[in-house]
Amino acid sequence: MSSLAIVGSQWGDEGKGKIIDYLAGKADMVVRAQGGSNAGHTVVIRGKKYALHLIPSGILNSNTANIIGNGVVFDPESFFEELAGLERDGIPTDKIYLSDRAHIVFPYHKALDELYEKARGSADIGTTKRGIGPAYMDKIERSGIRACDMLDEGGFREKLEAQIAHKNRVITGLFGGAPLDAGEIARRYAEYARRLAPRVRDTGVMVHEALKSGRKVLFEGAQGSMLDIDLGTYPYVTSSHPVSGGFIVGAGIGLGAIHGVVGITKAYTTRVGKGPFVTELADATGDRIRELGHEYGATTGRPRRCGWFDGLVVRYSARVNGLTGLALTLLDVLSGFDELFLCERYERGGQAIEDFPADLGLLEGCRPVYRRLPGWGSDISGCSSYESLPENAKGYVRAVEEITGVPVKIVSVGPDREQTIIREEVF
Ligand code: GDP
Ligand code: IMO
Ligand code: MG
Repeated sequence: MSSLAIVGSQWGDEGKGKIIDYLAGKADMVVRAQGGSNAGHTVVIRGKKYALHLIPSGILNSNTANIIGNGVVFDPESFFEELAGLERDGIPTDKIYLSDRAHIVFPYHKALDELYEKARGSADIGTTKRGIGPAYMDKIERSGIRACDMLDEGGFREKLEAQIAHKNRVITGLFGGAPLDAGEIARRYAEYARRLAPRVRDTGVMVHEALKSGRKVLFEGAQGSMLDIDLGTYPYVTSSHPVSGGFIVGAGIGLGAIHGVVGITKAYTTRVGKGPFVTELADATGDRIRELGHEYGATTGRPRRCGWFDGLVVRYSARVNGLTGLALTLLDVLSGFDELFLCERYERGGQAIEDFPADLGLLEGCRPVYRRLPGWGSDISGCSSYESLPENAKGYVRAVEEITGVPVKIVSVGPDREQTIIREEVF
């Protein structure tokens, strides 16, 4: 398969970074197409941990070109910080390219993200405060500033100063906040523009050429399908399209350019931020999963909410993404539990609910209907083949396949690149 999309099938943090890094060993190109520095993708190589936010997770493979596509909202401040970290670790960073059409995140987007959240009070979304929503708002409202605009020095300053003046009126007038210093921001971003210039390309052409010449291209999703602006648990979502359809527009490719879609799927469920979560365990079992899985956000450090595997969510994800396979991650975290629970469907007022409802009010009354499975006692983090997994762990994998209707092609039993079991080649 010469092109493969990797998406998160739940609420993010499924281990996309780990699996991308693993598969990127064979890839010529890794492409990000949505989201921004709200993403936190962790890659562990022989015990050394890397947290990536904007830079694609192919970066730790020196042969891979890393593309930040037009659908990404790009924060130069965050990018250069991340770049400096990688360079300190001796990672080559010359093959990172930014789409000339990508919209730029400015300090006013981050300030507004904070202010909007504060104004929502107890109805806040729990955003990462990385300016994502406000940057996509400007893009859709047609007042955004793109990478190509940054390269035109005079025009850029003019556009930016006009935007800051406008945003300052909102920040001070509507929210009583402190105005931003236009001169300082303009100077800082002119310097970012100068440093970014050699990386800015028409990346759509690069991706197209790679696909046309049969080179291997991986598309890296950020966030998760249930955080999709259209298909997720609105309004408790992000402002982009983490589902596979997001790659088409966000990388500037045609339908049919992607040959398979793997859903990265945690063996249980987590969510950061607010919003409905039917299988949540707000109890000692949830705490136990959080501690065993080190479930704290890679971007914000917030504790992640934990719960049992929600098969209805992943089944829904399979449909909206067209999943052709699953990579089941963090299975090792479930070792040592006497019994494990997988949600097959919801029930509400005696009625079975098989499809994920749009109405959050309706969702509130849903309770999970579980399949109970016996656990396995032994640690599986050293297992290097599917056959060597305990029978009950294999039974758990089979149950995931039955409930979701998607074959599990990869099983991940630890954070390290090496702790990956391939059942069927996907790329
Ligand atoms: P992403 O946002 O989807 O890339 O996922 P994150 O990196 O935010 O969160 C996944 C966390 O689980 C990271 O700390 C990974 O290092 C870790 N991880 C990934 N796969 C496994 C696995 O199979 N087992 C364990 N124990 N940890 C894993
Ligand atoms: P990765 O790529 C998990 C969540 C936030 C919040 C909501 C909106 O690491 O899987 P935003 O800042 O995007 O406006 O926040 O989305 N969120 C994520 N949760 N993993 C992520 O990315 C996320 N990116 C955003 O917590 O609930
Ligand atoms: Mg993450």
